[in-house]
Amino acid sequence: MKKGFIAGIVMMLGATAVQAEDIALVAPQMSGGKPLMDAIKARRSMRVFDEKMLEPQVLSDLLWSTWGISSDRGMRVVPTARNQQDIDLYVLQKSGVYLYEAKANVLKQVTDKDLRELMVKGQDFVRKAPIHLLFVTKNKRYGEFHAGSMYQNAGLYCASVGLNCVVRAMYEKEELGKALQLGDGAEVVMSMAIGYPKAK
Ligand SMILES: Cc1cc2nc3c(=O)[nH]c(=O)nc-3n(C[C@H](O)[C@H](O)[C@H](O)COP(=O)(O)O)c2cc1C
Repeated sequence: MKKGFIAGIVMMLGATAVQAEDIALVAPQMSGGKPLMDAIKARRSMRVFDEKMLEPQVLSDLLWSTWGISSDRGMRVVPTARNQQDIDLYVLQKSGVYLYEAKANVLKQVTDKDLRELMVKGQDFVRKAPIHLLFVTKNKRYGEFHAGSMYQNAGLYCASVGLNCVVRAMYEKEELGKALQLGDGAEVVMSMAIGYPKAK
């Protein structure tokens, strides 16, 4: 009886069960920041970072702006062809690599390895960035468009709250794919390094 009850709870929690290594995000604040026109004007690629990790609210807001859900019907903050939503957002940070699950508002840990060294590829400034976003898709036709919409949203969010960021195509693509055990045809199509400006 007790066993069945516990099994039932586990089944109910199902895919959204939060493991100890996962990061439960705080609720995103879906308002505030600079007005849109000011954020568009302020957006710039910046390559100097403070190593300090993003505050929990900032991380949650950044992820929501990039790939969050913005309607009761599960629509996203960016458009996708036929609304297939066939792109994944990963976060690389010191404590490992995580898949952003917008509905549960959780970062699911994929590995506890710090893979940020695979993001350097000759650009030393990148070592200071506390996080990288990875845009991973199987969609050969539109995947890069989807990633572009996402990194533009992320860039505007950064501009709106004063974070530094730069979109980057330079990373160890094959090694990352292997380390993340990406399935058939899935690839990292773009990345973005993000952090606070260097403290003075
Ligand atoms: C698809 C794409 C790939 C890029 N790859 C890199 C990169 O690997 N490393 C880098 O430092 N900047 C990279 N950039 C940033 C560009 O250098 C930058 O956007 C450009 O110089 C214009 O500057 P702005 O973003 O401040 O307007 C990339 C930008 C785009 C859109």
